Amino acid sequence: MITDGRSTVHPPGCRVCGQPIRAFFDFGRQPVSDAFRDPADRSAEFHYDLAVGACGGCAMVQQSHEVPRARMFHADYPYRSSGSALMRDHFEAFAHHLLDTELKVPDPFVVEIGSNDGVMLRTIAQAGVRHLGVEPSGGAADAARAHGVRVLTEFFQEDSARRIRDEDGPAVVIFSANTVSHIARLDSVFRGVDALLAPNGVFVVEDRYLGDIVDSTAFDQIYDEHFYLFSVESVRNASRRFGFELVDITRLPVHGGTIRFTIARAGARPVAPAVGELLAVERARGLAGHRTLDRFAERTRHARTELVDLLRRLRDQGRTVVGYGATAKSATVTNYCGIGPDLVPYICDSTPAKHGKLAPGSGIPVRPPAAFADPYPDYALLFAWNHAEEIMAKEHRFAAAGGRWIRYVPRVHVV
Ligand code: SAH
Ligand code: TYD
Ligand code: ZN
Repeated sequence: MITDGRSTVHPPGCRVCGQPIRAFFDFGRQPVSDAFRDPADRSAEFHYDLAVGACGGCAMVQQSHEVPRARMFHADYPYRSSGSALMRDHFEAFAHHLLDTELKVPDPFVVEIGSNDGVMLRTIAQAGVRHLGVEPSGGAADAARAHGVRVLTEFFQEDSARRIRDEDGPAVVIFSANTVSHIARLDSVFRGVDALLAPNGVFVVEDRYLGDIVDSTAFDQIYDEHFYLFSVESVRNASRRFGFELVDITRLPVHGGTIRFTIARAGARPVAPAVGELLAVERARGLAGHRTLDRFAERTRHARTELVDLLRRLRDQGRTVVGYGATAKSATVTNYCGIGPDLVPYICDSTPAKHGKLAPGSGIPVRPPAAFADPYPDYALLFAWNHAEEIMAKEHRFAAAGGRWIRYVPRVHVV
């Protein structure tokens, strides 16, 4: 491993299997996507090269440079899962599903990797079921504790997993949403799961699906935290490498297209037909192949041109445009497209920890949602497009007053 003083560059080879990687897109220098800055902070901003490629051996799509995890996940990490009613309902429903199925055994124990503010585990805690969240970001962990959730403020990895096993015994369910893809050391995750999971337990991983990202040209799903972009093929291969088997998948609409991967110890459970079915689709379309990914790259470049042209045209016509949702995803959009306060003077967002801060790289100020109507802009650039329904319903007066929404996924268009 080579350290260039800014980020970690691994030798050209897959982080999972070591085979050669074929690069398909380079976004250039990018900041840490959730590093919102105090306006008074004059220190140099950390940047790294955001580039992605696909492994020719195991099909895993991954970044070529790794941002040190402590730069992303720390006490002040601002993301809060419960900021969205859709996600609160989604995880509450899943917790009830677990309580009705896998957790119907004597004295079950469930562990969540990346439990954030306890959006899922609070329902498990309320049901009186033994649980533990593993969450390195102190602020998020404290928010979960305020909901009665038991949390270990640490990174999940092999040694922390062994300690949990020693203290609490085996887990019948290890759940992780939108977190496993953030961990470059997948080997450590799987070894930790191996140490902690009960013999017939399940490791359930929810993450954004490469197939949906490609289909909708959601290039903004690529940023530091999303080190891997998962497919059925790559998750199946990685699971097998560490003595596990992908036994079921469920496609979910959240975050623009997600898969819930159910992983068990090899041979412990039958494999559902859905796995082979989507695997066949991925192979037929060549999902991790260069043709598919090069076309995605081409569409991404086109989206940048279209979006920047639209914003410049509106500015030249004297129209006002405000951003909505200071998402991590928006860091890729603003910094890859070169969108600064001259085109988008501020972004409205409901997360208190982001208010009064500047968005990473672009330096666009973040303001509370109340600033949106004060006065309404002519156009709103919807960075939180995965929450479109919720946000557009909340802000229905904007459209009623003649305001227009700008979307860029699946293509640049005005609604
Ligand atoms: N599960 C929540 C949160 C996703 S954000 C949801 O789906 O909404 C990713 C979370 O993973 C962050 O809270 C981050 O602090 C945490 N995280 C990052 N690396 C981790 C690791 N190695 N072990 C456990 N949690 C981790
Ligand atoms: P999200 O798209 O979930 O994630 P990421 O940061 O990983 O791209 O983030 C949604 C952002 O949008 C979050 O900062 C909160 C904000 N938001 C609002 O401002 N209003 C809303 O009604 C909702 C649902 C989200
Ligand atoms: Zn590989």
